[in-house]
Amino acid sequence: MKLNLVDRKPRVLLLLPTRTYRASDFLSAARQLGVEVVVASDQPQTLSELSPLKSLSLDFRTPEPATLEISSFARTYPIDAVVGVDDDTTILATMAAKELSLPHNTIESAYATRDKYQLRKVLVKAGLRAPWFKLLSANENPEMIANRIDYPCVLKPLSFSASRGVIRTDDPGQFVDAFHRVVAVIQSSREEDEHHRAVEQLLVEGFIPGTEVALEGMMLQGELKVLAIFDKPDPLDGPFFEETLYITPSRLPAHVQQEITSCTQDAARALGLREGPVHAELRVKDDCAWMLELAPRSIGGLCARTLRFGTGMSLEELIIRHAIGQDVNSFKREENAAGVMMIPIPHAGVLREVSGQEQAEVVEGIDEVTISIPIGQEVVPLPEGKRYLGFIFARGGTPADVETALREAHCQLEFVIEP
Ligand SMILES: Nc1ncnc2c1ncn2[C@@H]1O[C@H](COP(=O)(O)OP(=O)(O)O)[C@@H](O)[C@H]1O
Ligand SMILES: [Mg+2]
Repeated sequence: MKLNLVDRKPRVLLLLPTRTYRASDFLSAARQLGVEVVVASDQPQTLSELSPLKSLSLDFRTPEPATLEISSFARTYPIDAVVGVDDDTTILATMAAKELSLPHNTIESAYATRDKYQLRKVLVKAGLRAPWFKLLSANENPEMIANRIDYPCVLKPLSFSASRGVIRTDDPGQFVDAFHRVVAVIQSSREEDEHHRAVEQLLVEGFIPGTEVALEGMMLQGELKVLAIFDKPDPLDGPFFEETLYITPSRLPAHVQQEITSCTQDAARALGLREGPVHAELRVKDDCAWMLELAPRSIGGLCARTLRFGTGMSLEELIIRHAIGQDVNSFKREENAAGVMMIPIPHAGVLREVSGQEQAEVVEGIDEVTISIPIGQEVVPLPEGKRYLGFIFARGGTPADVETALREAHCQLEFVIEP
């Protein structure tokens, strides 16, 4: 669809879940670009805070009726782009873009990337590298399975994020315990009614050893444009997989980075991801890349703040530019190294006090220290939890400088968590 920019500004529909970390970064990118924003959210109260002008209240958990509402809205206020934020909105964003005849990924790809079992099936069918995997029902007796699988293996819910409910096990005893623990996480999330899609199933798959990386990219007519490859220098060997450091550019040799890129391109093609942001997590062992996860969205949490393009453009702005049909192919990440530490929750309790933030902020190379959990709130560590205490951002001449700065700043912070 061609925009007639003489008549009016492009109108972008932003799908913002209530709990997203990303609202303010996407809204300021839209402001910067001068586009008109319509915010859709799943709670009206978020809407009045964010966008007093045009807004839509939608249930992201039922994408078909929500798509109809969007399309009826668009008959009065034509929409030029739909941008989904976070995993919760990818299916609706895809359906709505299709309905409005905007460039879109296949609907099947949107579903497959929200279900870890479907994702594995699609990748294997396309002949891509994958560990063994098996779908389990929460009602099964884990004792019956434990002796029939290989170790180490990883148990996980089908549609959560941030490593919630992901557990490595090394023997049948651990498997049985972990099985019950993952099922309990899935059930408690059903009770909170957050994940109506959290069906009573889980996935078990072979543990892939090696180092882990993340790739941030944009699909442009089916071709992957790599925006950044992040190393994760803290070992992720389990039993829980706490994300901490993401640092770019990667320190891996060029041919390994090429392998990471090809693996992501192949997986995107197999899935049917053609347009818009992609975020991939991969493992690398003996120069071979193994896809852990690929999603049609940008990096989660506040981590996108590590990325700047051209003379300082944010990732959110680049995503909106692409969505309204601008050519983003020439944009390159800045020359500096950059990184983030997601501050893990050390133990359960109530967050009573945070100190050392000023000391952390003055560590050389540190850009920003953000504590994202308010004092007085309960905090839950992995594998049950799903949030971070906050984020530390750094820039520097080399990835090693950035890593040092992030670790040093983290050491300055002290969290008082009362059990
Ligand atoms: N098969 C596996 N082998 C090794 N590590 C894994 C495997 N599956 C998951 N992990 C680890 O757990 C983390 C979270 O798993 P993932 O499937 O990406 O779930 P989530 O959507 O919660 O991020 C991964 O980033 C990785 O560190
Ligand atoms: Mg993941």
